[in-house]
Amino acid sequence: MDVLDGRVAFVTGAASGIGLGIATALAQSGVRVMMCDIERQALEAAHAGLAATNADVAHVLADVSLKEQLKAAADATIARFGKVHILVSNAGVGGGAGYGQWTDASWQWTIGVNLMSVIWGVEIFGPLIESHGEGGHIVNTASIAGLAAAVAPPYNVTKYGVVALSESLRAPLGARGIGVSVLCPGVIRTRIMESSRNVPARFAGQIERPELPPEQAALLAQFAAAMEQGIDPLYVGELVVEAILGDWPYILTDTQFEPMIEARFAEIRAGFDRIRDRTPRRGKAVP
Ligand code: NAI
Repeated sequence: MDVLDGRVAFVTGAASGIGLGIATALAQSGVRVMMCDIERQALEAAHAGLAATNADVAHVLADVSLKEQLKAAADATIARFGKVHILVSNAGVGGGAGYGQWTDASWQWTIGVNLMSVIWGVEIFGPLIESHGEGGHIVNTASIAGLAAAVAPPYNVTKYGVVALSESLRAPLGARGIGVSVLCPGVIRTRIMESSRNVPARFAGQIERPELPPEQAALLAQFAAAMEQGIDPLYVGELVVEAILGDWPYILTDTQFEPMIEARFAEIRAGFDRIRDRTPRRGKAVP
């Protein structure tokens, strides 16, 4: 996208943290923003805060892990602004338990919010962006945990999924005038550690985090401490604006975890090296 002024964006998880940082940076660039979130009070407060800066913003309440609510939020966006150019699928929840501790409900919640909403976002908003012929952009929030399996398995799985989805769609949507970027933040100062505040009622009593084994508890405490020094969400929002204008495939926020990702690449390269000199036996057709 070359022009942002006057365009319309739909941002999920916009009531807090990175989503609010992105909504703010977009609004500061003249974008009209529909802010979407599950948390009513925080959403209303965030909306009021941006509206006070004279930004043209609106809000819509939705649980993005329910397709019909996301669809209704898209309809509300068109009703309010007439069209939409930018989708930021950012809502997400942390956690999901480790081996021996996860439940079906904790997988469903994490996959629903972090991954299915991103898939449905493309499905619902793609045709809306295409329909006006002015082009647009989709930003999907993954994580560094989408490039190296850094935290609990359910979270890593969803974030790898968001990276894979974004990479798969970059060429086909690019050909239709829609850029696709995946945002992989490091440690950003937000309320992600308090994600359980947004467990939907349908999972009540099924997701409580069990007593963590000491090494996991220590890792979590380390992360919580790091978050105190975390990056400003508005800084991330400003990067996202730059990425939309520059059509960046990957949006990284800092280099803290680059060695971890390099180590993963090295493991994969070692896998190739192990079999490099062999000639694979080609199979006969299975009868
Ligand atoms: P946050 O907790 O401050 O913000 C998340 C927002 O999503 C909240 O406003 C919350 O109400 C909303 N939300 C949660 N469930 C929802 C649902 N079912 N429907 C609609 N909205 C819902 O956390 P943060 O950090 O701003 O998270 C934003 C994204 O950034 C997430 O996808 C997270 O996984 C990702 N991320 C965050 C990192 C960090 O260090 N904070 C690092 C890497 C990725």
